[in-house]
Parts: sequence; C-alpha cells; structure tokens
Amino acid sequence: MAAYEYETHDYDVVVVGAGGAGLRATLGMAEQGLRTACISKVFPTRSHTVAAQGGIAASLSNMGPDHWQWHMYDTVKGSDWLGDTDAMEYLAREAPKAVYELEHYGVPFSRTEAGKIYQRPFGGHTTEFGEGPPVQRTCAAADRTGHAILHTLYGQSLKNNAEFYIEYFAIDLLMDEDGTCTGVLCWQLDTGQMHVFNAKMVVLATGGYGRAYFSATSAHTCTGDGGGMIARAGLPLQDMEFVQFHPTGIYGSGCLITEGARGEGGYLTNSEGERFMERYAPTYKDLASRDVVSRCMTMEIREGRGVGDSKDHIHLHLNHLPPETLAERLPGISESARIFAGVDLTKEPIPVLPTVHYNMGGIPTNYWGEVLSPTADDPDRLAPGLMAVGEAGCASVHGANRLGSNSLIDLVVFGRAAAIRAGQVVDADAPVPVAPKAAIDAAFDRFDNIRHAEGAIPTADLRLEMQRTMQADAAVFRTDKTLAEGVQKMQAVASKMADVKVTDRSLVWNSDLMETLELTNLMPNALATVIGAEARKESRGAHAHEDYPDRDDENWRKHSLVWFEGEKTTLEFRPVHLDPLTTSDEGGIDLKKIAPKARVY
Ligand code: FUM
Repeated sequence: MAAYEYETHDYDVVVVGAGGAGLRATLGMAEQGLRTACISKVFPTRSHTVAAQGGIAASLSNMGPDHWQWHMYDTVKGSDWLGDTDAMEYLAREAPKAVYELEHYGVPFSRTEAGKIYQRPFGGHTTEFGEGPPVQRTCAAADRTGHAILHTLYGQSLKNNAEFYIEYFAIDLLMDEDGTCTGVLCWQLDTGQMHVFNAKMVVLATGGYGRAYFSATSAHTCTGDGGGMIARAGLPLQDMEFVQFHPTGIYGSGCLITEGARGEGGYLTNSEGERFMERYAPTYKDLASRDVVSRCMTMEIREGRGVGDSKDHIHLHLNHLPPETLAERLPGISESARIFAGVDLTKEPIPVLPTVHYNMGGIPTNYWGEVLSPTADDPDRLAPGLMAVGEAGCASVHGANRLGSNSLIDLVVFGRAAAIRAGQVVDADAPVPVAPKAAIDAAFDRFDNIRHAEGAIPTADLRLEMQRTMQADAAVFRTDKTLAEGVQKMQAVASKMADVKVTDRSLVWNSDLMETLELTNLMPNALATVIGAEARKESRGAHAHEDYPDRDDENWRKHSLVWFEGEKTTLEFRPVHLDPLTTSDEGGIDLKKIAPKARVY
C-alpha cells in the first residue's frame, strides 16, 4: 500500500473548480456563513470561463420586448426536446435575477445609451415562441463577458471569506461504504503536499472535457476531471453523445470567434461568395441554432463549396460593419483574428471551421445541482453529499444542443441554486464527516500506481491517439460504421492506459504526472461519448446520425447513462422530465407551446 502523509481540512462545503459555476456556488455558500473551501488546479481567474466571449442570456427586455417564457421555449426547442422541463423553466425564470445580482456584485457590463445592460442577438434566441424576429437577449461585456464575470465573482468570494486552495489537483472523491461522498483527496502542485478535505457537501464544478478532441475551443485544462472522479466512484455520466461544435473556430488554431460576431451582423459565405445560411434557415439565417449552422457549414465543405486551397473551411465576414462597432463591441476577436488567422477583420473575412466547444452531457443532477445515482425504480435517486454544476453537470437544461449564451447563465443560475440548496440541507452545526481510511488508501494507491507507471507509451502519444479517434469517429456527422469503429478504437485506446509511461516521479510541479492523471479523467468521458452515440439510433440536436436522419421521440426521448466498473461499461436510460415547475394556471408556460414539433429555423 502506498504511504503518503497528508494534511486534513474540515469544511461544511468544498467546491472543486473555480470557473463561473464554481465561484458562483462558492460565493453563495460563503454568503450564508457556510465554511467553504474552493479548490482549483489553476488560478481562479485563469479558469476556462475567462474565455467566454459573447455573453449571458436573460430576458431583461432592455432592447425590446422579451419574456422568460420565450427564453424557455427557445431553450426547449434548442435542446431538441431532450432537456428536463423543470430545469429549463428554472433557468429561464431565474436568469434575470441572476444577471441583476451579477450587476450588483460589480460585473462591468456594456451599456445602452440609457445606461441599461447592453444585450445582443444570439443564435436560436427569438421572440413570440419562435414566431417573431430574433431577440436581443444576450447580455454582454464587450466580447469579454466571461472574463468580467470571473474577476467579479472571485473578488466577491474573497470578500465573503471563502477560502481558496489554488493549484491543488483533485485526485479522487472519498466515498463511504454507503455511497455518501465525504470529501476529496488533493495534491498540492507546488509543494507535493497531499491533503484530505472532509466536507458535508462536495460540489464538482470542474468544467467540460473538450480536450478529448483534437481541435477544441476549450482550454487545455478542460479534461473532464469531475466526470472522471464520478466514473471511478461508481456513478454514471449522462447524455455524453451530445458534443457541441461551435460554427466559428478559427481555421487551424480552433480559437473561438464569438457568435456575437454574427449577432452584430456578421455572416458566412462559401467559395461562391453565397450567403448559404439563407438557403438552409430562411428565417433566422446565420442566427439559426449552432448545431444547425455547424452542419450546414460541413455540408457546404463536403459538397465542394469550401474556401481556401483545400476548400476545407468557410468565410466569416465582418468587414462590412462600421469599424467603431468592431472596436467597441468586438475588440477581443479583432485581436484573435489578427494573431491566430493573420487577418484584419475590418478588411478581410475570417477563415472559420466548426470546432468542438461544449459538452451537453455530464454528471446527472436535478435543478438544485444535487447529483443523481439513478436506479430503474428511482431514476431521480440522490447521491448523498455530492453536487455538480456548470459544464461538468447535466441538469439537464441543454438537452441535445445548447443555445449560445445559455452556458454562462447556466453557470450562475445553477451555481446559485446549489448554494441555495446547500443552505437548506447542510447543517452548519453538525460534525464534519471523516473520510474512511479505506477510501483514502485506495485513492493513494491509484495515484501512486500512475506516478510510478513504467509502461511503453508516453502520455502525450496516448492522448493524441484518443483525440484523433474522437475527432474522426464522433464528429459533426456520424454513421453506424464510424460509431462502431469509434467504440472499438476507443476501447483499445483506453486499455492502453495500463501501458502508459510516466518519466518524472517527483511530486513538485510534475506536469507529466498531472497530465497523466488528467488523461485518466478524459478516458471515461471519451468512452461514454462514443458508447452513447453508437447506441442512439436517431438524429437529435448535436447528434447527427446519417443512418437515422430523423428525431425519434417515441423511442429516444430519454437520457442515456453510462457506468464504469474497471474496463466494463453499462449503458442504461432514464426518462426526460416532462413536467414544468408551474402550470399555466400558476403563471407557468402552456405545455402546448413546448410540445415537440419539427425543429426549423
Ligand atoms: O460564441 C460565443 O461567444 C460563445 C458563447 C457560448 O458558448 O455560450
């Protein structure tokens, strides 16, 4: 058995991850007087939320008429009717409150002439239950909205005495024999010191797993660490087959060009100079939902109408917009286009390509962020002591496809909801649980085995093999053949973890070891993605299956769940929540408005 010394810490709540959701949860917990620790493998303001550009959706009606029910309708339609209705109602209803709170905390939003929060159009956001023109619902701080939110939430968390453990890597959850989470084992990266955090509630806010793919807008830190820990704790991952490709990653680097660019009037063209989105989505054109725009771009390229020498990408035009608008509303992407594409966007189009951007799937939760441990008899059974929020979680508010700017609002609405719920269920006067010795020993054994791995395959080589497999076989368009191959290849790749080679054995700033631990987290996320995709015999949202081009509500309006036990995986399903929180008599939405129908833009 591996022998490591460790320090012990006791808290009411431990939040793992310091992006938008983690910080909003941390702040909300600390504001209520709960003793709260936030653990992060990077400095909080370097979390991936810092890269969020275009904005945060909320029906404030600052730029014209809007209503939370229209926002809910757009989210239901955007999810391709796979989202949980109660969670989607909660998101749309609470969004304005959550944004005004951010404003009061100090987020420097862009302003209208009248001094109100500036809002821009974004794809899939409409008026009149999809019957009216696009709505300006996305609240923006120029094109650096995530940056503004993250800095504000970090400052507020410090002000409220939340305690931060920065550059600490969470190795594993510490579960007791009854399946209750009692804390988390961490490695302090700069000293090598080990730490056991005991807590009454552990909140996973570890972000997505975009780096399972070769080309992604996600930071290199987006390695699905929460999903990895959950899989090892014997809990399932949900709806992992739904991976969002953002239409406008810069060709080559994958760097994000915000959808706000099209919101401000940008448009896409093919090699014939045609604004092809007018053909595919006559009403909302370039502001159709992301999955739709990404598929249309891919079809244009496949049919030989891509631009460039290899006809393998598309042009995004902003050069017709007034330079003052670009400077004021889109300063960040002006810089990105220059640095990553060598383009002056006031004069030339930007070369773009659909790029992996977001994971709709994740750790199943209810709309309070409480993690689920579903059984056939009780699909909503709770996993005690555990919450998950943000991209790591799956509430499920995005279903099969997320609308742009519904991610930042998801982070703050559900980070806040987790704090509200913790205020109800965490007893500040109760004793803090003590992690069972067996759980600590098992986590150290796994860590030590990886630290001393003496196989033949360097971590970077195995990671690349995984990324290339995912990019080729779990792509924008999928077929039975590519998915069956994808499952086989990913199983083979995952089994090579047993032959991985770690060369640095030290405990201080050992990036070789940390990247290998991250790879052990990416693997179950990637495997669950191909397994869920191979099983789902329909097309829905981001899952475009060429052998089953239609949505099949009768057989497939259900969430997929994948469990891991060593190399064995089990696939099951749980029902979608069809009931809203409130009926139309209580001021809620009329269910007829959100009944499934063809999804056209
Ligand atoms: O395009 C963007 O600014 C990205 C926003 C989002 O993913 O919500």
